[in-house]
Amino acid sequence: MLLSPAGVEALRTALSRAAYTSNGIADRLGPQATGGIARNDFRAALRATADRDPLATLIRVFICDQTEPEAAVAAALAPLTVAEALAGGLVERHGDGLRAGVDLEPYADDWWVLADLPVSSRPGRPLHSEHVLGIGGATQTLIGAAVRRPVETALDLGTGSGVQALHLATHARRVTATDVSERALRFAATTAALNGQDWELLRGDLVAPVAGRRFDLVVSNPPFVVGPGTTTHVYRDSGRVGDAIGAELAAAAPGLLTEGGTMQYLANWVHVTGEDWGERVAGWFAGTGLDAWVVQREVADPMAYVNLWLTDVGEAADPHRAAAWLDWFDAHKVEAVGFGIVSLRRGGHADPVVRVEDLRQRVEPPMGERIAAWFDRQDWLRARGADGVLDARYRAAEGLQLRQEATMGDEGWAVDRQVLAMPHGLRWTEEIDPLVLALVGGADGRLPLRDQLALLAAAHDVAPEELAEAAGPIVAHLVERGIVEPVSD
Ligand SMILES: C[S@@+](CC[C@H](N)C(=O)[O-])C[C@H]1O[C@@H](n2cnc3c(N)ncnc32)[C@H](O)[C@@H]1O
Repeated sequence: MLLSPAGVEALRTALSRAAYTSNGIADRLGPQATGGIARNDFRAALRATADRDPLATLIRVFICDQTEPEAAVAAALAPLTVAEALAGGLVERHGDGLRAGVDLEPYADDWWVLADLPVSSRPGRPLHSEHVLGIGGATQTLIGAAVRRPVETALDLGTGSGVQALHLATHARRVTATDVSERALRFAATTAALNGQDWELLRGDLVAPVAGRRFDLVVSNPPFVVGPGTTTHVYRDSGRVGDAIGAELAAAAPGLLTEGGTMQYLANWVHVTGEDWGERVAGWFAGTGLDAWVVQREVADPMAYVNLWLTDVGEAADPHRAAAWLDWFDAHKVEAVGFGIVSLRRGGHADPVVRVEDLRQRVEPPMGERIAAWFDRQDWLRARGADGVLDARYRAAEGLQLRQEATMGDEGWAVDRQVLAMPHGLRWTEEIDPLVLALVGGADGRLPLRDQLALLAAAHDVAPEELAEAAGPIVAHLVERGIVEPVSD
């Protein structure tokens, strides 16, 4: 830990007593200053904390990144002494005062997460090679995507600050967290103790520390950044070439999961000229026996990608680094890099479903529950089989919309395109033909699909079996996406 057990207890006392929590800070500052902080505009917050009571000082030091008089900091951290705080790296001397040495972030209702300060806080100071990542966009993506159903055991691979483990402990009876970095584990242990949580913390490379063990839920925000395989910053670089870490985690998943267990991780994958990116990623799961749902949330071109990750470590101004990285992309015909969420489930089926698709639209949270529901729908489809799908009754998703594009011609509007759009949830849009439109339009939960199809077949003078053969897979696809929902008997 960064502090002794007694030191962590003292820090916890200081933070609780001062009400240095997300809610305590919001109450103290009010909406305007709180909103300013979210935009890195600290002016209103500094005005509201001018009297330097303990909460004000903690806000000034750890949120507004101010250097404050030692006496004020001592009063704010007591019963933790300044000497202990300095030794643990929580604060550092600057000019004639003290300033933050770490990111001590009030998080969710009443948690605190310890991480390193971002590169932007200390311009010119190189990031530690074992930099411990704070709560950024990718971290939040995984927090939102994790399936939050009660489980016995959960594992966080590459725990860093420990923020994923904090969340796991809300719905897992036992939490294990690993990291290759001893430094990261010290931060994670401090985060756990500060929040009164107890996790098993293990050091080692990816799944090595938990070899032979199985978990009901595994989450990982690994160092997924793709490149030549060199490591300068362990939070970002896996040391694996290209996107190999995504494939390595997929290969490890069957041995990590209990029956019915779920693994979710963030990944990057390369788009190679002449290769289908989806097939490439689907190939990671061949032979694993796992159901897999991979959604691509973003795609970046190589230049934007390299700039993003060099900026992340404060090296954007170094043209040589960028050139070497871009040369590697060129040599491997990488034309873009995809970012997304991998969700795997050990269902024990001989015919696992592997779906790799773009899901670039904004999704209505909670994403984790939507992912769980996707696997539930796969279970339903599998249990029903093709025949059972035809026997079921369906209802269109709540608020489902029809959007049409039409061209004005001599005979009035001619419809070019019809699209079903879900205004909620995963917000899928789906181009459909008039027949499917009629099916979905008639899906009011009363008539089995088979009977609906018979009526349509008669109206269009086609054989009902032929229509059923064509419509079954389409309806299964609409069920998978939640555009139509089965009505239970
Ligand atoms: C992107 S950070 C994620 C931190 C945290 N879990 C989060 O979601 O914010 C990746 C973490 O994986 C760790 N890591 C890097 N390489 C690893 C490896 N080979 N095995 C285990 N952990 C590794 C890093 O030290 C870092 O803490």
